[in-house]
Amino acid sequence: MNRPDDRPPVTGPTGDLDRRYAWHPFTQMADWEREPPLVITRGRGCHLYDEAGNAYLDGSSSIWVNLHGHRKAPIDRAIRRQLSRVAHTTFLGLTHPTAAELAERLVALAPEGLSRVFYSDNGSTAVEVALKMAYQYWRQRRPGPKPEKRRFVHLAHAYHGDTVGAVSVGGIDLFHATFRGLTFPTTKVEFPYCYRCPWGKTYPACGLHCLEPVARTLEREAHETAGFVVEPLVQGASGILTMPEGYLKGLADLCRRHGVLLIADEVATGFGRTGRMFACEHEGVEPDLMCLSKGLTAGYLPLAATLATQAVYDAFRGRYDEFRTFFHGHSYTANPLGCAAALASLEVFEREDVLTRIQPRIRHLWGRLERHLGGHAHVGEIRGRGLMAGIELVADRATGEPFPLEAQVGNRIARAARAEGLLIRPIGNVVVLMPPLAMSRPQLTRLVTGVRRSLDAVTGAGS
Ligand SMILES: Cc1ncc(COP(=O)(O)O)c(C=O)c1O
Repeated sequence: MNRPDDRPPVTGPTGDLDRRYAWHPFTQMADWEREPPLVITRGRGCHLYDEAGNAYLDGSSSIWVNLHGHRKAPIDRAIRRQLSRVAHTTFLGLTHPTAAELAERLVALAPEGLSRVFYSDNGSTAVEVALKMAYQYWRQRRPGPKPEKRRFVHLAHAYHGDTVGAVSVGGIDLFHATFRGLTFPTTKVEFPYCYRCPWGKTYPACGLHCLEPVARTLEREAHETAGFVVEPLVQGASGILTMPEGYLKGLADLCRRHGVLLIADEVATGFGRTGRMFACEHEGVEPDLMCLSKGLTAGYLPLAATLATQAVYDAFRGRYDEFRTFFHGHSYTANPLGCAAALASLEVFEREDVLTRIQPRIRHLWGRLERHLGGHAHVGEIRGRGLMAGIELVADRATGEPFPLEAQVGNRIARAARAEGLLIRPIGNVVVLMPPLAMSRPQLTRLVTGVRRSLDAVTGAGS
């Protein structure tokens, strides 16, 4: 294998063109313009390769999308097969085989009660669709009263995407505060961030005290609340914050009791990431709406789906002139290439028994994290679920005092990790490891030990 050293990656015309013309997401472009970018030109399995042929382990699954590795033969073949038929036809007024078949497969896999699939293009649009569906559902459900429910509840630190509806239910000030003037009003409930418990409690002695604010909010506002949006079990973009056991189920029960739709945003957690197909399964939660994207196509193509219950769906049925229709759609809705990739990915899950095969890998990852990072002087907490791990770095382990954000410790570690042949993307002071489900045990070891060396290099400290 061609391992990189600590020279900057070779950059040719692509890097020059990029720096001159492209604008990157979540990136301070003034910094970006200063240095030659890493140019990735191909991938295979869990590796990505730059222009010079240096190999990097894809430790972030190309931002949480890749599942079975790059160039997975059955998915490559399925896309080529679809391409030889047609690349795209509209889903307005007609249908096509891959979208219909995929809808059937998703309904069969999804938590009980979800029976309809509405396609869109990415995680944000999947959430946007869920919000609009929930809002419209209450205006026209039958039978029964039609309360004016305009409000949405979400958790602190939540991330549901970057379109304006998704930003409205977002809780990360760094990303969302700028746009508050554009968003609709929502209610934010504290997140049970156990490492820095907002109520100063300790789990499990707290007895899930964190559910009390959920109960209080719903008692006060359920009459005007259309839906409660959550990232089940793990909040990804806030730094892999995990819910204590029983919290998700408790929250779901409270929503049911108060007549508020539960919207499960499984964009990051879906498709095996947490060790089960969907995170909701861990606590037997059956949402009213569920948002899927990222792993839906195993990291191949942009596609999303919002799944709805029969009750939600039925509220939209009626005579044409009742105008109960869901007036929402996108040009590339149900793109056949994306649907073909998604179907092929689900076949891989079945044929390779992926959900069984990842269990020893998950145990291996957590064993290695504990062994190589557990006692480190600058590791405050290691948390996550399945193949989603966050390592919260702190200036002082004893007090939990954070590193100042401007020190960019996470970014510097990711930088150092490149020289180790690893691609990772931190969130602030949290090093995030999100390997493809296909990452082997030796590769997982390499990922963790590489992070450990990078951490030592940046902080100058060991355990
Ligand atoms: C939980 C969750 N929801 C929604 C999104 C938005 O997805 P996309 O970037 O595809 O719009 C993300 C992206 O990270 C996410 O983690």
